Amino acid sequence: MNKKFYITTPIYYINDVPHIGHAYASVATDAIARYHRKQGEDVFFLTGTDEHGAKIAEAAAKLQETPQEFVDNLDLKFRAAWKLLDISNDEYIRTTDPLHSKIVSKLVQELVDRGFVEKRSYEGLYCVGCEKYMKESELVNGCCPDHLKKPVVQSEENYFFKLSAFADQLKSKIESDEIMIRPESKKNEILGKINLGLDDISISRASVEWGIPFPGDPEQTIYVWIDALINYYSATKMYDREDFWPADLHIIGKDIFWFHGVIWPAVLLALDLPVYKKLFVHGYFTVDGQKMSKTIGNVIKPEDLVAKYGTDAVRYYVLSAFPFGADGDVSLEKMNQAYLKLANEIGNLFQRTIAMINKYEISVVDNKVEKSEYIDIEHEMAELQLMEALRKIMLFAEDQNKAIASTQPWALAKEGKNEELASFLTKTHANLLILADALVPFMPETAKKMNHQLATLDLEPLFPRIEE
Ligand code: MSP
Repeated sequence: MNKKFYITTPIYYINDVPHIGHAYASVATDAIARYHRKQGEDVFFLTGTDEHGAKIAEAAAKLQETPQEFVDNLDLKFRAAWKLLDISNDEYIRTTDPLHSKIVSKLVQELVDRGFVEKRSYEGLYCVGCEKYMKESELVNGCCPDHLKKPVVQSEENYFFKLSAFADQLKSKIESDEIMIRPESKKNEILGKINLGLDDISISRASVEWGIPFPGDPEQTIYVWIDALINYYSATKMYDREDFWPADLHIIGKDIFWFHGVIWPAVLLALDLPVYKKLFVHGYFTVDGQKMSKTIGNVIKPEDLVAKYGTDAVRYYVLSAFPFGADGDVSLEKMNQAYLKLANEIGNLFQRTIAMINKYEISVVDNKVEKSEYIDIEHEMAELQLMEALRKIMLFAEDQNKAIASTQPWALAKEGKNEELASFLTKTHANLLILADALVPFMPETAKKMNHQLATLDLEPLFPRIEE
């Protein structure tokens, strides 16, 4: 039986159309999922949308739509974006799916039954952007540092989850890597926070109507983060993938680390369910050094980039721009440079090699990649060093270009050294098969085109010149 591998993206808030930051998480997760499939594993790759909560309800109200109409429209936009980026998710979960709601309310009821929930009155500062209560100490000039808005005072009677009861268990499981958190710096960061002590958290809202009713109390809805986190588990039931739980890998951005590093495993422990195996926290994109925002007007939409550069060049660019796990800056200028690099190093390489094979009538029909010959990115992929994996692949392409420059096949032809010429071009052709194979997880369409060209020896530019 093949090894099972369950991998997830966060489920996206659909209060607006997807931007390049969302695309980053999806493309990275997709490359990892495709790599595992290529290794022969039985992969379950889940993505989806987070559709409840005050944030969505507010966005819908602004357009004078009902929340359901609103999420139904945006759902289409998200699906279209993932299609455009060639995201190979096996399922797509929406938290408004009644099946999901049913599972969430059942699990919340179970938390109540197990004695981990208590009703208390609460007053706090709530940031709608984050969908969470904030401590005074977290605010900068009275505002949420992420959303630059003053949180609103909310006081309600809420149901509280006894998060504090899980501090010791979480600490030891994270320390021992039973719950593996990477990069290491993030593991240390969360251990530091747990050491400061965990407060119980409110898991219901009296003031938010757009949500799943709290079991036994229709005046309240289930806190959107509890609803959302459970998607990873509910999906295994909804799509008949129960044997894939616990998840092998959750990929998330650093802004939602607390929820995934602390709240999610604590909920699973409270329910006596196995906890996910690994959580990888990636960094944040800035655009030309600035936070992406509508107000600044620097939001990059994936479809605009794809329209100009094509799907695979965009995938290549976001994964090669900076290390996975670190913050980094993107710009249209750098996207353009990445495209030129692909055209120069890989596009030209294919053009030249295939043109020479045709010109000198070299037979390569029987060429195929031996299992023993591949670009070894196993370590990089195990550590999720996507940029480094791509760099290795690119170096391999550069080496082929260098070999052509130093061997000068055209000179061999002139000198009548036909055997040497045939052997060199056959070898280069085989190396291009190896290159195509390595690119499958990252640039799937291009890899297909490469294999096609290497089989039929027709010349179609892989990265055509861009019309400005
Ligand atoms: N709905 C929650 C997640 C629930 S998961 C159970 C949410 N959604 S989100 O749409 O706001 O963000 C989804 C993902 O996109 C997060 O991992 C977030 O880090 C990522 N990004 C959003 N903006 C980003 C950048 N500018 N750069 C990189 N990733 C970014 O949070």
